Amino acid sequence: MRATPFALAALACAALLCGCTGDPETKVVDATAVEHGAALFRDPSIAGTRFNRYACSTCHEAVAGDAGDAMLPGAPLAGAVERPHYWGGQEVDLLGAINHCLYFFMTKDLPWTADEPAAQAIYAYLESLPSDGDAAEAVSFTPVYTLRDPSPGDPGKGELIHERACASCHGRARSGEGRLVERAPALPDQTLEEHPLGEYTELERRMVFVEKVRHGAFIGYGGQMPPFSAEVLSDEEFGDLLSFYELP
Ligand code: HEC
Ligand code: HEC
Repeated sequence: MRATPFALAALACAALLCGCTGDPETKVVDATAVEHGAALFRDPSIAGTRFNRYACSTCHEAVAGDAGDAMLPGAPLAGAVERPHYWGGQEVDLLGAINHCLYFFMTKDLPWTADEPAAQAIYAYLESLPSDGDAAEAVSFTPVYTLRDPSPGDPGKGELIHERACASCHGRARSGEGRLVERAPALPDQTLEEHPLGEYTELERRMVFVEKVRHGAFIGYGGQMPPFSAEVLSDEEFGDLLSFYELP
Protein backbone atom coordinates (compact mmCIF):
# COMPACT_ATOMS: atom_id res chain seq x y z
CA MET A 1 0.00 0.00 0.00
CA ARG A 2 1.24 3.49 -0.73
CA ALA A 3 2.25 5.23 2.44
CA THR A 4 0.15 8.33 2.68
CA PRO A 5 0.38 9.70 6.20
CA PHE A 6 -1.80 7.63 8.46
CA ALA A 7 -3.56 6.26 5.37
CA LEU A 8 -6.43 4.91 7.43
CA ALA A 9 -7.99 8.28 8.07
CA ALA A 10 -8.73 9.00 4.43
CA LEU A 11 -11.87 6.92 4.25
CA ALA A 12 -13.31 8.39 7.40
CA CYS A 13 -13.03 11.94 6.11
CA ALA A 14 -14.13 11.58 2.54
CA ALA A 15 -17.77 11.00 3.31
CA LEU A 16 -18.14 14.27 5.19
CA LEU A 17 -17.24 16.51 2.33
CA CYS A 18 -19.59 17.93 -0.22
CA GLY A 19 -19.53 20.65 -2.79
CA CYS A 20 -21.29 23.41 -0.91
CA THR A 21 -22.17 26.96 -1.81
CA GLY A 22 -21.10 29.93 0.29
CA ASP A 23 -17.45 28.93 0.22
CA PRO A 24 -14.98 31.81 0.35
CA GLU A 25 -13.00 32.79 -2.72
CA THR A 26 -9.32 33.36 -2.08
CA LYS A 27 -8.47 37.01 -2.36
CA VAL A 28 -6.11 37.72 -5.20
CA VAL A 29 -3.44 40.06 -3.95
CA ASP A 30 -2.27 42.39 -6.66
CA ALA A 31 1.43 41.89 -6.09
CA THR A 32 4.31 39.57 -6.93
CA ALA A 33 3.82 35.82 -6.58
CA VAL A 34 5.96 35.89 -3.43
CA GLU A 35 3.81 38.58 -1.79
CA HIS A 36 0.64 36.82 -2.89
CA GLY A 37 1.95 33.57 -1.42
CA ALA A 38 2.90 35.32 1.85
CA ALA A 39 -0.67 36.62 2.16
CA LEU A 40 -2.22 33.25 1.29
CA PHE A 41 -0.04 31.52 3.89
CA ARG A 42 -1.89 33.49 6.57
CA ASP A 43 -5.37 33.29 5.01
CA PRO A 44 -7.89 30.54 5.90
CA SER A 45 -9.79 31.16 2.66
CA ILE A 46 -6.90 29.42 0.89
CA ALA A 47 -8.80 26.14 1.31
CA GLY A 48 -11.85 27.59 -0.44
CA THR A 49 -14.31 26.10 2.04
CA ARG A 50 -16.30 27.80 4.74
CA PHE A 51 -15.74 24.79 7.03
CA ASN A 52 -12.10 25.72 7.40
CA ARG A 53 -10.81 28.20 9.98
CA TYR A 54 -7.12 27.39 9.72
CA ALA A 55 -4.42 29.17 7.80
CA CYS A 56 -1.14 27.42 7.02
CA SER A 57 0.31 29.74 9.70
CA THR A 58 -2.04 28.24 12.33
CA CYS A 59 0.20 25.15 12.33
CA HIS A 60 3.47 26.18 10.64
CA GLU A 61 5.97 28.94 11.17
CA ALA A 62 7.35 30.33 7.92
CA VAL A 63 10.80 30.73 9.47
CA ALA A 64 11.67 28.94 12.73
CA GLY A 65 11.05 31.30 15.64
CA ASP A 66 8.63 33.67 13.94
CA ALA A 67 5.72 32.51 16.10
CA GLY A 68 7.67 33.20 19.31
CA ASP A 69 7.45 30.31 21.78
CA ALA A 70 4.35 28.73 20.20
CA MET A 71 4.51 24.92 19.94
CA LEU A 72 3.07 24.32 16.49
CA PRO A 73 2.28 20.80 15.25
CA GLY A 74 3.73 21.35 11.75
CA ALA A 75 7.37 22.08 10.95
CA PRO A 76 8.73 25.50 9.96
CA LEU A 77 8.57 25.72 6.16
CA ALA A 78 11.66 27.77 5.25
CA GLY A 79 13.85 25.31 3.34
CA ALA A 80 10.93 22.97 2.64
CA VAL A 81 11.27 23.20 -1.14
CA GLU A 82 14.74 21.62 -0.86
CA ARG A 83 13.94 18.87 1.65
CA PRO A 84 14.45 15.29 0.43
CA HIS A 85 11.14 14.10 1.89
CA TYR A 86 8.27 15.16 4.09
CA TRP A 87 5.97 13.97 6.87
CA GLY A 88 8.79 12.02 8.51
CA GLY A 89 9.61 10.20 5.26
CA GLN A 90 6.02 9.23 4.44
CA GLU A 91 5.77 11.63 1.48
CA VAL A 92 8.38 12.51 -1.13
CA ASP A 93 6.48 15.19 -3.02
CA LEU A 94 6.14 18.75 -1.70
CA LEU A 95 2.77 19.30 -3.34
CA GLY A 96 1.61 15.97 -1.91
CA ALA A 97 2.79 17.08 1.56
CA ILE A 98 0.72 20.27 1.28
CA ASN A 99 -2.31 18.44 -0.10
CA HIS A 100 -2.39 16.22 2.99
CA CYS A 101 -2.79 19.35 5.11
CA LEU A 102 -5.48 20.78 2.83
CA TYR A 103 -7.40 17.52 2.89
CA PHE A 104 -7.04 16.27 6.45
CA PHE A 105 -7.05 19.55 8.37
CA MET A 106 -8.53 22.22 6.10
CA THR A 107 -11.43 20.09 4.73
CA LYS A 108 -10.55 20.73 1.10
CA ASP A 109 -11.73 17.72 -0.88
CA LEU A 110 -9.90 18.22 -4.18
CA PRO A 111 -6.09 18.33 -4.14
CA TRP A 112 -4.13 21.15 -5.72
CA THR A 113 -2.48 20.38 -9.02
CA ALA A 114 0.85 21.93 -9.95
CA ASP A 115 -0.81 24.56 -12.16
CA GLU A 116 -3.17 25.77 -9.43
CA PRO A 117 -2.38 29.51 -8.94
CA ALA A 118 -2.52 29.29 -5.12
CA ALA A 119 -0.07 26.37 -5.19
CA GLN A 120 2.29 28.35 -7.39
CA ALA A 121 2.10 31.41 -5.13
CA ILE A 122 2.75 29.29 -2.02
CA TYR A 123 5.67 27.64 -3.80
CA ALA A 124 7.14 31.02 -4.75
CA TYR A 125 6.76 32.19 -1.16
CA LEU A 126 8.34 29.05 0.34
CA GLU A 127 11.20 29.27 -2.15
CA SER A 128 11.84 32.89 -1.14
CA LEU A 129 12.33 32.03 2.54
CA PRO A 130 15.90 31.71 3.84
CA SER A 131 17.05 28.08 3.82
CA ASP A 132 20.26 28.50 5.77
CA GLY A 133 21.46 26.23 8.57
CA ASP A 134 19.66 22.89 8.61
CA ALA A 135 16.33 24.28 7.31
CA ALA A 136 16.62 22.21 4.11
CA GLU A 137 17.22 18.95 6.00
CA ALA A 138 14.36 16.49 6.40
CA VAL A 139 12.40 17.28 9.54
CA SER A 140 12.20 14.58 12.13
CA PHE A 141 8.54 13.74 12.73
CA THR A 142 7.66 10.74 14.89
CA PRO A 143 3.95 10.06 15.12
CA VAL A 144 3.14 8.25 18.36
CA TYR A 145 1.25 5.15 17.23
CA THR A 146 1.49 3.23 20.47
CA LEU A 147 0.08 5.40 23.20
CA ARG A 148 1.94 5.90 26.44
CA ASP A 149 0.24 7.41 29.45
CA PRO A 150 2.68 10.13 30.53
CA SER A 151 3.70 10.39 34.18
CA PRO A 152 2.23 13.24 36.23
CA GLY A 153 4.22 16.46 36.00
CA ASP A 154 4.30 20.12 36.96
CA PRO A 155 0.92 21.89 36.55
CA GLY A 156 2.57 25.32 36.40
CA LYS A 157 4.59 24.26 33.38
CA GLY A 158 1.47 22.57 31.99
CA GLU A 159 -0.42 25.85 32.00
CA LEU A 160 2.23 27.33 29.75
CA ILE A 161 2.08 24.30 27.45
CA HIS A 162 -1.66 24.82 27.09
CA GLU A 163 -1.06 28.41 26.04
CA ARG A 164 1.73 27.54 23.63
CA ALA A 165 0.23 24.40 22.04
CA CYS A 166 -3.55 24.28 22.50
CA ALA A 167 -5.00 27.76 23.11
CA SER A 168 -4.69 28.89 19.49
CA CYS A 169 -7.59 26.57 18.58
CA HIS A 170 -9.22 25.71 21.92
CA GLY A 171 -9.04 29.14 23.54
CA ARG A 172 -8.30 29.68 27.20
CA ALA A 173 -8.23 26.73 29.56
CA ARG A 174 -11.60 25.94 31.18
CA SER A 175 -13.62 28.74 29.53
CA GLY A 176 -12.59 28.18 25.91
CA GLU A 177 -12.66 31.94 25.49
CA GLY A 178 -11.17 33.07 22.19
CA ARG A 179 -11.30 29.66 20.54
CA LEU A 180 -10.67 29.55 16.80
CA VAL A 181 -12.83 26.54 15.96
CA GLU A 182 -16.37 26.42 17.33
CA ARG A 183 -16.35 22.66 17.84
CA ALA A 184 -12.98 22.55 19.58
CA PRO A 185 -14.03 21.85 23.20
CA ALA A 186 -13.05 24.03 26.15
CA LEU A 187 -10.21 22.10 27.76
CA PRO A 188 -10.41 20.14 29.87
CA ASP A 189 -13.92 20.75 31.20
CA GLN A 190 -16.05 20.18 28.13
CA THR A 191 -14.21 17.00 27.16
CA LEU A 192 -14.61 15.64 30.70
CA GLU A 193 -18.33 16.48 30.70
CA GLU A 194 -18.70 14.56 27.47
CA HIS A 195 -16.94 11.57 29.07
CA PRO A 196 -18.59 11.36 32.52
CA LEU A 197 -17.21 9.24 35.34
CA GLY A 198 -19.29 6.11 35.68
CA GLU A 199 -19.52 5.68 31.94
CA TYR A 200 -15.74 6.09 31.70
CA THR A 201 -12.99 5.22 34.16
CA GLU A 202 -10.40 7.82 35.23
CA LEU A 203 -7.87 6.13 32.98
CA GLU A 204 -10.20 6.14 29.97
CA ARG A 205 -10.88 9.85 30.47
CA ARG A 206 -7.15 10.50 30.55
CA MET A 207 -6.61 8.41 27.45
CA VAL A 208 -9.17 10.49 25.50
CA PHE A 209 -6.68 13.34 25.83
CA VAL A 210 -3.66 11.18 25.07
CA GLU A 211 -5.23 9.65 21.95
CA LYS A 212 -6.50 12.91 20.55
CA VAL A 213 -3.25 14.77 21.05
CA ARG A 214 -1.05 11.98 19.69
CA HIS A 215 -3.27 10.86 16.80
CA GLY A 216 -5.15 14.05 15.92
CA ALA A 217 -7.44 13.24 13.02
CA PHE A 218 -5.68 9.95 12.29
CA ILE A 219 -5.68 6.28 13.29
CA GLY A 220 -9.37 5.74 13.61
CA TYR A 221 -10.13 9.31 14.65
CA GLY A 222 -11.88 11.86 12.48
CA GLY A 223 -12.01 15.60 12.91
CA GLN A 224 -9.60 18.35 12.07
CA MET A 225 -7.12 18.34 14.90
CA PRO A 226 -3.47 17.88 13.94
CA PRO A 227 -1.40 15.21 15.72
CA PHE A 228 1.42 16.30 18.03
CA SER A 229 4.57 14.32 17.35
CA ALA A 230 7.11 13.26 19.97
CA GLU A 231 9.39 16.05 18.68
CA VAL A 232 6.83 18.83 19.16
CA LEU A 233 5.46 17.67 22.53
CA SER A 234 7.57 15.39 24.72
CA ASP A 235 5.94 12.91 27.11
CA GLU A 236 7.31 14.96 29.98
CA GLU A 237 5.62 18.13 28.69
CA PHE A 238 2.46 16.16 28.05
CA GLY A 239 2.57 14.93 31.68
CA ASP A 240 2.81 18.57 32.83
CA LEU A 241 -0.20 19.46 30.67
CA LEU A 242 -2.38 16.61 32.00
CA SER A 243 -1.46 17.63 35.56
CA PHE A 244 -2.52 21.19 34.78
CA TYR A 245 -5.85 19.76 33.56
CA GLU A 246 -6.05 17.90 36.90
CA LEU A 247 -6.49 14.54 35.23
CA PRO A 248 -5.58 11.90 37.79
C1 HEC B 1 -4.01 22.02 11.38
C2 HEC B 1 -2.58 22.11 11.22
C3 HEC B 1 -2.00 22.26 9.85
C4 HEC B 1 -2.37 23.14 8.85
C5 HEC B 1 -3.53 24.13 8.86
C6 HEC B 1 -1.43 22.97 7.78
N1 HEC B 1 -0.52 22.02 8.11
FE1 HEC B 1 1.05 21.42 6.99
N2 HEC B 1 1.50 19.98 8.38
C7 HEC B 1 0.87 19.80 9.58
C8 HEC B 1 1.45 18.66 10.25
C9 HEC B 1 1.05 18.12 11.61
C10 HEC B 1 2.45 18.15 9.40
C11 HEC B 1 3.35 16.94 9.64
C12 HEC B 1 4.55 17.34 10.43
C13 HEC B 1 5.58 17.97 9.56
O1 HEC B 1 6.31 17.25 8.88
O2 HEC B 1 5.60 19.22 9.50
C14 HEC B 1 2.46 19.03 8.23
C15 HEC B 1 3.35 18.90 7.16
C16 HEC B 1 3.50 19.83 6.15
C17 HEC B 1 4.59 19.84 5.21
C18 HEC B 1 5.76 18.89 5.22
C19 HEC B 1 6.87 19.49 6.07
C20 HEC B 1 8.05 18.57 6.26
O3 HEC B 1 9.18 19.02 6.05
O4 HEC B 1 7.83 17.40 6.64
C21 HEC B 1 4.40 20.91 4.38
C22 HEC B 1 5.29 21.34 3.23
C23 HEC B 1 3.19 21.57 4.80
N3 HEC B 1 2.68 20.89 5.88
C24 HEC B 1 2.68 22.71 4.23
C25 HEC B 1 1.46 23.29 4.60
C26 HEC B 1 0.84 24.40 3.88
C27 HEC B 1 1.43 25.12 2.69
C28 HEC B 1 -0.34 24.66 4.53
C29 HEC B 1 -1.41 25.63 4.13
C30 HEC B 1 -2.00 25.43 2.82
C31 HEC B 1 -0.43 23.73 5.66
N4 HEC B 1 0.67 22.92 5.65
C32 HEC B 1 -1.46 23.69 6.59
C33 HEC B 1 -0.14 20.58 10.08
C34 HEC B 1 -0.82 21.56 9.37
C1 HEC C 1 -5.08 23.47 15.01
C2 HEC C 1 -6.15 23.43 15.98
C3 HEC C 1 -6.00 22.59 17.23
C4 HEC C 1 -4.92 22.55 18.09
C5 HEC C 1 -3.61 23.31 17.99
C6 HEC C 1 -5.30 21.65 19.15
N1 HEC C 1 -6.56 21.16 18.92
FE1 HEC C 1 -7.58 19.82 20.09
N2 HEC C 1 -9.15 19.87 18.83
C7 HEC C 1 -9.26 20.66 17.70
C8 HEC C 1 -10.57 20.47 17.10
C9 HEC C 1 -11.08 21.18 15.86
C10 HEC C 1 -11.25 19.54 17.90
C11 HEC C 1 -12.68 19.01 17.69
C12 HEC C 1 -12.64 17.62 17.12
C13 HEC C 1 -11.89 17.58 15.81
O1 HEC C 1 -12.29 18.25 14.85
O2 HEC C 1 -10.85 16.90 15.76
C14 HEC C 1 -10.34 19.17 18.97
C15 HEC C 1 -10.63 18.24 19.95
C16 HEC C 1 -9.86 17.97 21.06
C17 HEC C 1 -10.22 17.09 22.16
C18 HEC C 1 -11.53 16.31 22.29
C19 HEC C 1 -11.34 14.84 21.98
C20 HEC C 1 -12.60 14.04 22.16
O3 HEC C 1 -12.63 12.89 21.66
O4 HEC C 1 -13.57 14.50 22.76
C21 HEC C 1 -9.19 17.11 23.05
C22 HEC C 1 -9.09 16.35 24.36
C23 HEC C 1 -8.18 18.01 22.51
N3 HEC C 1 -8.61 18.51 21.30
C24 HEC C 1 -6.99 18.31 23.14
C25 HEC C 1 -6.03 19.18 22.64
C26 HEC C 1 -4.81 19.53 23.35
C27 HEC C 1 -4.45 19.05 24.74
C28 HEC C 1 -4.11 20.39 22.54
C29 HEC C 1 -2.74 20.98 22.78
C30 HEC C 1 -1.68 20.04 23.08
C31 HEC C 1 -4.88 20.57 21.33
N4 HEC C 1 -6.03 19.84 21.43
C32 HEC C 1 -4.49 21.35 20.24
C33 HEC C 1 -8.28 21.49 17.20
C34 HEC C 1 -7.02 21.72 17.76
